[in-house]
Amino acid sequence: MTQPLKLFIIAGARPNFMKVAPLMKAITLHNGSPGGRPRIVDTLIHTGQHYDEKMSDVFFRELGIRQPDLNLGVGSGSHAVQTATTMISFAAACEKDRPDWVVVVGDVNSTVACTLVSSKMGIKVAHVEAGLRSFDRTMPEELNRLVVDVLADLLLTPSEDGNENLQREGIHASKVRLVGNIMIDSLIENLEKSRAHPILKNHGLEPGRFAYVTLHRPANVDNRASLTSIMQELTRVAKELPVVFPIHPRTRKMLQEFGALPEGGQGMVLLEPVGYHESLCLTENARLVLTDSGGLQEEATYFRTPCLTLRPNTERPITIRLGSNRLTDVDRLRGDVEQALKGPARIGEVPPFWDGRTAQRTLDAILAASA
Ligand code: UD1
Repeated sequence: MTQPLKLFIIAGARPNFMKVAPLMKAITLHNGSPGGRPRIVDTLIHTGQHYDEKMSDVFFRELGIRQPDLNLGVGSGSHAVQTATTMISFAAACEKDRPDWVVVVGDVNSTVACTLVSSKMGIKVAHVEAGLRSFDRTMPEELNRLVVDVLADLLLTPSEDGNENLQREGIHASKVRLVGNIMIDSLIENLEKSRAHPILKNHGLEPGRFAYVTLHRPANVDNRASLTSIMQELTRVAKELPVVFPIHPRTRKMLQEFGALPEGGQGMVLLEPVGYHESLCLTENARLVLTDSGGLQEEATYFRTPCLTLRPNTERPITIRLGSNRLTDVDRLRGDVEQALKGPARIGEVPPFWDGRTAQRTLDAILAASA
């Protein structure tokens, strides 16, 4: 009989959870009828990089992910501390129970830490969401992406630009598969629930008549001048259009430190970080999304909701080329918001392979690479 295939699946921070959920579901379906292919034994490892109810637990509940088989409990800290602590704990887990593959997603510190450990131990690494590049090495995520992709044995890309970047960097094409955007599998799966969510009613919001804002990038929020100017602009926008602003823990801490935490009211709807269904509901119904998140650029593209990204670059250029995304900065923000509000309520198109079947293609690629 064929030996089962042992996978460790790594999730560490908020944007990882919607990427592992569809893969775990595809594994369950596969094990129900593996055909001639090996059964899969999957171990879900949460590094604990994010740990709060609102940054982690709510996503497990809403996405129907089972409790992690192992939680490394790493927690917050400097990049060095977070990465090193993850490496120490993850290496111990691999020594105890060696998998055939470690599957990592995205570009957070947990992703790079587990990749380094696996490669050094000779365990194969599959990287879901490979090949994305902002070409901005001041972003911690860009460094993580470069390291992970140079080490990974199987690189699963969400869009053609990912393949082009990897080819340019000399990664052999035999290791690269264009599978599509796995986050969109979760989005499609959860549409019914997000559409039934009462968040708009709870805050007196009307579809198409509010802006949905998220901010957490260090370049925007760790700098006093930048964060205070962004807040001034948001306060101004809120006078014309309600601004719904769930505040990330990093951003709240910095707003408090700079004495710039807005009071709420006068069109400003300040919230704690929202769950997955709430966020999808806000993205689908907003007149405008204003963000520095990677995932939201993609979700807005899927819903064709106009999106302004407060960054000088994006590792997801397809959201600009085909989708509803545009880059902006604090000086151009006022004009760009006005322009967006004059334009159509839905723009752009959904990129190829963002079709809800990426998890299946991902699993097929892992099985093919294991044969
Ligand atoms: C991390 C990722 C970033 C991702 C973001 C999504 C890296 C390098 N960065 O950034 O790519 O877009 O997650 O949120 O991996 N905190 C809590 N509760 C938590 C987790 C964090 O309060 O559950 C607070 C802590 O004070 C911490 C701060 O948030 O210091 C930042 O968390 P951290 O994981 O260091 O980075 P993020 O900014 O969240």
